[in-house]
Amino acid sequence: MKEYDVKCIRCGARFPKDDIVYTCRKCGGLLDIKYDYSKLDLERIVKAKGEGVWKYRALLPFDDETTPITINEGNTPLYRCDRLAQAIGIDDLWVKHEGLNPSGSFKDRGMTVGVTKGVELGVKGVACASTGNTSASLAIFAAKAGIPCYVLLPKGKVALGKVAQAMMHGAQIFSLRGNFDDALRVVRVLCEEESIYLLNSVNPYRLEGQKTIAFEVAEKLGWAVPDRVILPVGNAGNISAIFKGFLELKTLGIADTIPRMTGIQAAGAKPIVNAFKENKEEIIPEDKPETIASAIRIGNPVNAAKALHAIRSSGGVAESVSDEEITEAQLLLARVEGIGVEPASAASIAGLKKLVEMGEIERDERIVCITTGHLLKDPERVIEICEAPIEVDADVEVVRKMLK
Ligand code: F0G
Repeated sequence: MKEYDVKCIRCGARFPKDDIVYTCRKCGGLLDIKYDYSKLDLERIVKAKGEGVWKYRALLPFDDETTPITINEGNTPLYRCDRLAQAIGIDDLWVKHEGLNPSGSFKDRGMTVGVTKGVELGVKGVACASTGNTSASLAIFAAKAGIPCYVLLPKGKVALGKVAQAMMHGAQIFSLRGNFDDALRVVRVLCEEESIYLLNSVNPYRLEGQKTIAFEVAEKLGWAVPDRVILPVGNAGNISAIFKGFLELKTLGIADTIPRMTGIQAAGAKPIVNAFKENKEEIIPEDKPETIASAIRIGNPVNAAKALHAIRSSGGVAESVSDEEITEAQLLLARVEGIGVEPASAASIAGLKKLVEMGEIERDERIVCITTGHLLKDPERVIEICEAPIEVDADVEVVRKMLK
């Protein structure tokens, strides 16, 4: 039997594994799931069969008898990207395309674990605030589990494909007059008062699913870890989760090092970058976050403390990129590697390029960029930045003359 419970990262208070608690009742700190690693069987991780998130169930917070709510999430491709590497001026670049999860983003990894836990706890419904992807994924898993789903979206600020998913899969959707940070504030109170299960990344169980990104990266590289992992940062759950995954591989003796965790924010929403550069422990929230990368348009990231720890203790950095740099990177990735991502995901590539130019990244580092969401999530942005289709008569000569 696996032993685990919930621990406050700030004051160390412990809570039983089935307690529905999102932040520490003693000090308000963030929570983490803690395992007794001495009781874990290593063979069950490195020799596990199957694929996707549940392949690593030896390191997930469930007993072996649990039946998961799953849509075959995880097992996303890790592409070797030589053409992109050459364009940027580095030697060893890989992109893990999390946009190829069933709902089109990495959120499915967290939701399969979070919704399975919710069902196990017998919750009457699930809810989240979202810039879009979290709500799309949660709506799908709630549909699969047959439980009600409530989502709060910042009005007019969510990409079309994401709202369409939440609508189609039957969530009750509120379009909040406010931004993501307002929506999260409201949903947190609602969940506490109405006993609805909160599935934003402040829920430590969700992050347990997302840490499997680290396991897949390491496994595909022959149980070795890259020198650096670069990813976009919004509410800062994913960078914290992936760091935890690598930390576990080190704790268990499967890997000797931890990649430099490198977080990229948009220039108009960069409280973590500011805190990192100013050497501060706490972020100063931004009231009016603004960027075309709507998924990471977040001014008050709930997991900031975990993310800053992940970046600093792994020797990584936090950097910001402009909307222009994001768009340029989105087009470059699509056109030299055939990888279609939404703007937030392209922030990782834009950040890589900028850090190489700044001399912060060495040419020979082995780098993995995580692209978090699929291109089709945000078709409106594509139409804004690409040349429109040319309308012509159905005539060979007319088309021939116009070929570039
Ligand atoms: N990339 C994409 C495509 C996202 O949707 C998000 C977050 C992030 C990156 C940032 O991840 O929050 O763990 O730092 N989207 C959330 C949502 C906020 O509601 O869908 P993070």
